[in-house]
Amino acid sequence: AAETGIDAWLRYAPIPEAHKYAGRIPTQVIALNSSDLSPVLTGAKELEQGISSIFGQSCNVNRWHGGHRGGAQRPTSSIVIGTVAEYSSYAAKDSKKPIPKLVNDGFYLDTTGREVLILGSNERGALYGAFEYLSLLAQGNVTKVAYASNPEVPIRWINQWDNLRDGGTHGSVERGYGGKSLFFWNGEVRPDLTRAAQYARLLASIGINAVVVNNVNANETILNSTNLDGVARIADVFRPYGVQLGLSLYFASPKALGALNTFDPLDQSVINWWTNITDEIYERVPDFAGYLVKANSEGQPGPLTYNRTLAQGANLFAKALQPHGGVCVFRAFVYDSTTINETVWADDRANAAVDFFDGLDDQFMDNVVVQIKYGPIDFQVREAVSPLFSHLRQTATSVELQITPEYLGQNVHLVYLAPLWKEILDFDLRVDGAPSTVKSIVNGTRFKNTLGGFAGVAGAGNNQTWLGSHLAMSNLYAYGKLAWNADADSVEMLQAWTKLTFSHDQKVIDTVTSMSMASWPAYEGFSGNLGIQTLTNILNGHYGPDPQSQENNPYGQWYRADATTIGMDRTVSNGTGNAGQYPPEVAAAYESVDTTPENLLLWFHHLPYTHVLKSGETIIQHFYNAHYNGSAVSNTFPAQWESLKPYIDTQRYEEQLFRLVYAAGHSLVWRDSINNYFFNVSSIADEQNRVLNH
Ligand code: GCU
Repeated sequence: AAETGIDAWLRYAPIPEAHKYAGRIPTQVIALNSSDLSPVLTGAKELEQGISSIFGQSCNVNRWHGGHRGGAQRPTSSIVIGTVAEYSSYAAKDSKKPIPKLVNDGFYLDTTGREVLILGSNERGALYGAFEYLSLLAQGNVTKVAYASNPEVPIRWINQWDNLRDGGTHGSVERGYGGKSLFFWNGEVRPDLTRAAQYARLLASIGINAVVVNNVNANETILNSTNLDGVARIADVFRPYGVQLGLSLYFASPKALGALNTFDPLDQSVINWWTNITDEIYERVPDFAGYLVKANSEGQPGPLTYNRTLAQGANLFAKALQPHGGVCVFRAFVYDSTTINETVWADDRANAAVDFFDGLDDQFMDNVVVQIKYGPIDFQVREAVSPLFSHLRQTATSVELQITPEYLGQNVHLVYLAPLWKEILDFDLRVDGAPSTVKSIVNGTRFKNTLGGFAGVAGAGNNQTWLGSHLAMSNLYAYGKLAWNADADSVEMLQAWTKLTFSHDQKVIDTVTSMSMASWPAYEGFSGNLGIQTLTNILNGHYGPDPQSQENNPYGQWYRADATTIGMDRTVSNGTGNAGQYPPEVAAAYESVDTTPENLLLWFHHLPYTHVLKSGETIIQHFYNAHYNGSAVSNTFPAQWESLKPYIDTQRYEEQLFRLVYAAGHSLVWRDSINNYFFNVSSIADEQNRVLNH
């Protein structure tokens, strides 16, 4: 059968040399006391399907509903799946294993005994354990193991930026490169939600526990009763996978829907309106996860429209959600492009989030999470970590990553993002001079918050590849794995994914690893170096080279190039003061050219093109070289992929090759446009005379 990619890493491909495993694979699954729609039963069925597909051996599901467990009839090898609580009543006192401490959604996997135990702290945890066990089996790993696995963070969410309708094209996905919305069509929820259920399955297998299904640039009509009924249907197909549903809100909804003539968050009629609509949602979706709110950003209305604070805006929703146990995720991506001007040296969009949120830290309700993009601008190929992570201590925070790489090649280019994300997560902000990595802040350990976590903007669509390209799916996989364990290793995640997605053959694993690990540096090489951001067309599409589009407009993605100098001066002494938004040790490092990491040199400093880097190259020569080197690497990808032809099915092989060949050519377009642009601006020739100097 043709591999369409729809099963991604859950193909359960027949294992090479299946006979080697004979007699070592369980032949029965016992699902403990689970209802028909329970994630426990989903896990049991997944085990049945997976084992039969991987090993060609049946492994049927039996359901245990309490009472005598009929020891004598039990085959010698079974898998017991359920919650820890159910296991306590199931197991005979003398054979009950001690289970290590589990947090919410955690699981215990034990393959050492007569029965394989897959026990969740809750039903969803049991499903996660089933996927973990299947992942080991599908990788040919039958080593005896016994361990507990607990998630890094409670919030492991996906944000889909799906539109209900969007001009002429219905159900489009903003910044999505993999087709139309899985959820919406023609202003309503799709009648057929098969793909939505398949998406939930993929997400559950990597530990994702909620999906916000509509765009942060939200439309108020999501809240009309037809659409809320539809939303409830989405939640119904998510539920067996333990995936909760969340909604993005349009702040001005009560007014936009014609219910009220105000949306002032302190007005009692507005408060009542949101309380009622929230209650209505919970009637339809009792396990509703909560709201995601983009307010007072990029033209969106918000509390500032009424001179109320962002905290008052967030609390409006938090209060309505609180009785139901829901969470209000409030985005920190707040900036006002009408108030900054490139001709003012001190103006800087990177300062916006801290400027807007400072002073509010003690004002958010406990069920508010402030969701912060990893950098202070907007998902660029290289950014300093957002300083806001060091400012919010009493407020839970989550880190917003972009799985759909808007500024990083839009899944036409191969860009494996785990190394970028890990640099962010591992970055130490040194708050109060003490270790303060981003991961320790969002997982709550640094400031003792109980909520917090990860948001991944995914952009999956109804294309069979989900994201638009087969190789891009390593990013979705790695996102889930990092949200579960932020210490997971980029290469190990990639190799497990490769094995599950393509092949066990070492040649495939090595080649996909070499391409993927080289991909982010290559893309940075030909798109924007030393921290000047991705020099793409920011006014239209965010795709392809167009450095001029960043300058001379109020969007604040400037790099301030003139005939002799380039870079944003973000120092306190002479610039925008942005370096001063970081805790003192980090601020001091960024304040000086000598101690700023070179990959962020022009993010923080304005320097002559002739400034000499540690490599001995000048800045301008580094640009030229990096663009040649990066695009040369991209040009090795098609041949590397072609070497895998004997190992990969034709459909996926051809589809991916098509992308890589195009991307290799496009990297040359990037190289030449950016290099020519800098030659024209600086009039400094390439030492190697490669750059056209007309
Ligand atoms: C980027 C992106 C927009 C999106 C915005 C956001 O600017 O291009 O499409 O709406 O971020 O995160 O809110």
